[in-house]
Amino acid sequence: MYLLATDILCLIAFISFLPPVVNGQVSRLVGSFHSKSHISNVELADDIVYLGAENFLYSLNATSLSLIQAVATGPVLDSPLCNAELTSCIGARAKATIVETNNYNKILHKLPGGLFTCGTVRQGTCELRSLDNIARIVKNSSVPVAANSNNASTVSLIDAASEKLYVASTHSFDSPYREDVPSVTTRLLYNLLPINAGSLDGEAAVHIRAEYRSRFRVNYVHAFRDEHYIYWATVQNKYVMSSAYAKKVTKLIRVCQDDDKYVSYSEIEIQCRSEDNANFNILKSMTQANGQLIGVFTDEDGQRDSAICIFSLEKIRLTFYYNIDRCRSGTDTIGMPHIGRDSKCINKSHLPLAEDTCLLGVGGTIEASQLAAVQFTDRLLTAVDARVVQGKTLVIAGTNAGEVLQMSMIGQLSHKLEKYAEFVVGAEAVSKIVFAGDSTFYAIVGNEPSVRTVAS
Ligand SMILES: *[C@@H]1O[C@H](CO)[C@@H](O)[C@H](O)[C@H]1NC(C)=O
Ligand SMILES: *[C@@H]1O[C@H](CO)[C@@H](O)[C@H](O)[C@H]1NC(C)=O
Ligand SMILES: *[C@@H]1O[C@H](CO)[C@@H](O)[C@H](O)[C@H]1NC(C)=O
Ligand SMILES: *[C@@H]1O[C@H](CO)[C@@H](O)[C@H](O)[C@H]1NC(C)=O
Repeated sequence: MYLLATDILCLIAFISFLPPVVNGQVSRLVGSFHSKSHISNVELADDIVYLGAENFLYSLNATSLSLIQAVATGPVLDSPLCNAELTSCIGARAKATIVETNNYNKILHKLPGGLFTCGTVRQGTCELRSLDNIARIVKNSSVPVAANSNNASTVSLIDAASEKLYVASTHSFDSPYREDVPSVTTRLLYNLLPINAGSLDGEAAVHIRAEYRSRFRVNYVHAFRDEHYIYWATVQNKYVMSSAYAKKVTKLIRVCQDDDKYVSYSEIEIQCRSEDNANFNILKSMTQANGQLIGVFTDEDGQRDSAICIFSLEKIRLTFYYNIDRCRSGTDTIGMPHIGRDSKCINKSHLPLAEDTCLLGVGGTIEASQLAAVQFTDRLLTAVDARVVQGKTLVIAGTNAGEVLQMSMIGQLSHKLEKYAEFVVGAEAVSKIVFAGDSTFYAIVGNEPSVRTVAS
């Protein structure tokens, strides 16, 4: 029997829509790329994906992940004891500490006017690069913004309209050039300085007090916006006085986006609870979709079990308000001694206070607690993303063994997840999952990003 040309075309079209089959397993692979080093940041902007990696920046075709441009950003001569330009150093022997140093990308955002990047070298300073040619630096700066060590976290958010950069970073190498770097701050993009820096009236910044910095290390995991608030999700010690190895908790930090004095700066604990009421206290990855905050959590040691919890953002906002209202009625103290804010709460309950107030910030004792949407024994989740597709909330998570799990939320309000697909994408931990659209997602495993089809 002979096939007509139209039949063949149909057959080809049909075959090309089937996911590729590898060793009898559906790999769902659409495209992949091999980076020369570990990837820390992914920025998806229209039809280009930018990757920030150790000593490299890449631009790739977002559909196929074929390389457009690769640019080396390190190693460069550097020392934490010298200023960003290396023109002055502190201490007689500091010049001798200038050595070839790896540059780990910490901040990566596409702006209308360029690609904004900050790395660990030169005190965590930033550059603006041309979108047409990311090798070309359009503007540089000597203001420290990102952490200057690979093991210190930095998470940030850009508001292109107001030209603000919201950034939190873990205190890293002690350096006289970094004493003024806040742990959380709002910076203006044009000069990168914290708004009202140093003002006695209040600045858009908080600093962890010097006496606590060495043992009170905050790991910033995720930044996001909801309504007129900017949030950072963190893992930190529950109490400021406890030792560095004390029990950790996951907290949300919140400021109002236009608060240029940080009077609204607040912190609350969030808890992801198992059926038997154990707390998965370590946040690994977080995302938002459809008014929900979706987090991957592990147990204390991060060795065995993990869970996904889905918090409604409405509940998060209410919990912040309960804590603010409690202080407003004169109970306890502000509760944030680590940033030097612990004065007694003053009873002002005779004055009205809106639920969305930006006039008071507290470190509250009332936490937001949520029962796990799904729980895993002997399995560690490492990355998550979510997206509403055809009215359903889809959640894709990666594990430390290179697997990807696809889940969907049961109903809209259940805060429960049901797994419907699972496959292997690599041999190491999945460090990031990012939805590319309704039907494809990126998974990063070690130095390998790949784009794959979402199982339906
Ligand atoms: C990306 O690749 C696709 C298919 O390989 C191609 O059609 C598209 O034009 C490319 N886009 C860019 C921006 O190069
Ligand atoms: C910015 O670029 C100029 C010109 O290339 C250079 O002299 C200066 O050292 C750079 N500044 C920083 C902070 O890298
Ligand atoms: C981070 O790395 C620096 C330099 O490698 C090291 O001095 C410091 O102790 C590390 N800190 C932590 C918390 O691992
Ligand atoms: C705060 O003041 C209100 C009256 O303005 C009073 O009813 C309430 O008991 C006070 N709360 C505390 C904790 O003193």
